[in-house]
Amino acid sequence: MSRLIVRNAARIVTYPTEGPIRGPGFDDVTILENASIVCEDGIIVSIGGADEPDGTDDVIDATGCTVIPGFVDCHTHLPFFGWRAEEDAARLSGVRYQDIHGTQGGIFRSAALLAAATDEDVLRFSVELATSMLRKGTTTLELKSGYGLTIEAELRQLRLARRLALSIPQDVSVTCLVHAVPGGKTAGEWVAEVCDVLLPKAVEESLIDAVDIYVETIAFDLEHAARIAHAAEALGLRKRVHADQLADNQTGSFAARWGFTSADHLNHLSADGIADLCESDTAAVLLPGATFTLRQSKKPPARSLIDGGALVALGTDLNPGTSPIHSMPFVITLACRLYGLRPIEALVAATANASHVLGLTDRGRIAVGARADLVLLDVPVDHLAYRPDEDPVVGVVCGLEAARR
Ligand code: NIG
Ligand code: FE
Repeated sequence: MSRLIVRNAARIVTYPTEGPIRGPGFDDVTILENASIVCEDGIIVSIGGADEPDGTDDVIDATGCTVIPGFVDCHTHLPFFGWRAEEDAARLSGVRYQDIHGTQGGIFRSAALLAAATDEDVLRFSVELATSMLRKGTTTLELKSGYGLTIEAELRQLRLARRLALSIPQDVSVTCLVHAVPGGKTAGEWVAEVCDVLLPKAVEESLIDAVDIYVETIAFDLEHAARIAHAAEALGLRKRVHADQLADNQTGSFAARWGFTSADHLNHLSADGIADLCESDTAAVLLPGATFTLRQSKKPPARSLIDGGALVALGTDLNPGTSPIHSMPFVITLACRLYGLRPIEALVAATANASHVLGLTDRGRIAVGARADLVLLDVPVDHLAYRPDEDPVVGVVCGLEAARR
């Protein structure tokens, strides 16, 4: 048996309730002072008293540190290959994301880069990013397809996601994303192929846990999303949707009514959408990295969602187009500064609530029986929002792996 003691932390942030936290649940967040955490075989077995190490234990001295749950990044577009900085430069000169997409740039450009790269190239590129994410405290992450755009290329990206998972210490959850209409096909034809061929094959190979569809004027509409939802239900997959990012397509409301696990982005969410999400169990996944990168003046109604009791989660949306951002501490900064979340709300959204979005109940909180996924900060939680250019992560425990700076 391996035992690890994280000793004498100045502060340990705990959430007494199990599962996601919303509405009055935020008042239950508790900060324990001068306490320790004991882990056995990658699981937390006690919190509080400072057990004396017996000489064979691994010990991390957390004196002066704040210990928080490992971050769960519930929305990334890994694995991919290559960046698209020239598109960003064009956007900084005034070109719109939608217009770059329309000229076979954007998602189509990443599909071409992925197709031209070897499997080893893609894995090397993606492992490097995931490793850096671990150093910044991400102990679980979502991976997606969506840069394949043919059945074979989507399956290749999903298989690469599973290979990536075997090469990193973090746990993953994998999503099949219906992302862009492939050249020479109608949106309806591609959705039919996805439902009839891609999803059943991906399930047969145990490649995916969820499906996602990009509802936008440049991609798919709600009728396509409904067809994907039926296919996902038949296969027992969680349903997610890229919703109301560039315009109000009534997708937030749709997701709530159809029992989706999450509606992600939500910059243009309508008043009806706010009400529908607040009343539902559909998570509002906020991705401020994309808002920051695209310099969108229209922000999601984050305060109305939180104050109305919605289940709010955060992710990086790491992708080479709209969010070349892989740090959850930076996403927390953006969520507080751009969207008006309070630091504790952002922390909960990046841990307990993000883990709920991935259907994982054994992490996202520091509790007996939970996975030993811990992040040590050398500052109190408020500093995550207050000092954005200071790297506060001084140690990470990810199950059986521990790393200190
Ligand atoms: O979540 N908007 C759709 N999908 C991604 C961007 C993908 C890309 O530009 O490569 C997003 O923002
Ligand atoms: Fe995305």
